[in-house]
Amino acid sequence: MFKSILAMAACALVLSSASAHGAQTQSPILIKFAHVVAETTPKGQGALLFKRLVEERLGGQVKVEVYPNSSLYGDADELQALRNGEVQLLAPSLAKFEKYTKQLQIFDLPFLFDDLDAVNRFQKRAKGRQLLRAMEDHDIVGLAYWHNGMKQLSASKALLMPGDAAGLSFRIQPSSVLEAQFQQLHASAQVLPFAEVFDALKNAKVQGAENPWSNIYSKQLHSVQPFITETNHGVLDYMLVSNPRFWYAIPHRIRSELEGIIDEVTYEVNRQAEAANQADRQRIEASGRSRLITLDEQQREAWRQAMRPVWQQFEVQIGSDVLKAAQTVNRKQRN
Ligand code: SIN
Repeated sequence: MFKSILAMAACALVLSSASAHGAQTQSPILIKFAHVVAETTPKGQGALLFKRLVEERLGGQVKVEVYPNSSLYGDADELQALRNGEVQLLAPSLAKFEKYTKQLQIFDLPFLFDDLDAVNRFQKRAKGRQLLRAMEDHDIVGLAYWHNGMKQLSASKALLMPGDAAGLSFRIQPSSVLEAQFQQLHASAQVLPFAEVFDALKNAKVQGAENPWSNIYSKQLHSVQPFITETNHGVLDYMLVSNPRFWYAIPHRIRSELEGIIDEVTYEVNRQAEAANQADRQRIEASGRSRLITLDEQQREAWRQAMRPVWQQFEVQIGSDVLKAAQTVNRKQRN
């Protein structure tokens, strides 16, 4: 008797939480998708494609509103807004989840993944897929990984060797791995929301930053950074996330259709991300605003050796199993 009263109470709680999150009672179901980048970037394009396909296939049942460029929520409040049910889809950079799981810090380790293909292989394997569920206790469920690209180091001076970065201050995302990475260079790091990076560089609040070409070009960061070193030292990718209380309350037939659309959009975003970044690299070079520095093998190895101690620092909190799995995905094996 007591058990069935408990079961009824639990059921009532689930239903009221589902309707509080709007999925079952609202018609059409409204999905607000907020992000912090420009619409021309891989993530911006992915959000628009998702909206188009949903409205073509589920028109009248699901409505999607896309809010780019931190116009609804920014880095500081978007994840809390998702947990509160105020926004239904986000795709934050993987560096922005540290508060909810340490395991995703794997993606911030410098020189761990040689390129986006290696990142892709890791995300598709069992360990990578498990990480999509690592934050469910915090009301965050991962639906897919979306690529942006490999990060480049921009600065107010030419960075050829790691020692050239000493004494500079770099803008970082909220990640202690990234902070440690710059400490290894005897540089300092300041956490700033993406929306503030341009002004911070322009006003010399910080002297450097790290981002893929698409983010640099779309925010014109190259116009306030005279040098960009093509380090490809780390990855900037995204996790498309929702609130599980919203997501699992969507009627099964509609949710399956949405998941199919997400698979298609993910395929497109990930297929086009590298080319989009290379096109933006060329635009930056053609602009003549910033000098692009390419590293030879020896220089690149010096950067790798300088940043590599960060792996040991974070191995325990990330999990050696996760680190080991990630170390097997490069084509060229190293120690
Ligand atoms: C993003 O690509 O979503 C922003 C990355 C950053 O904060 O640098």
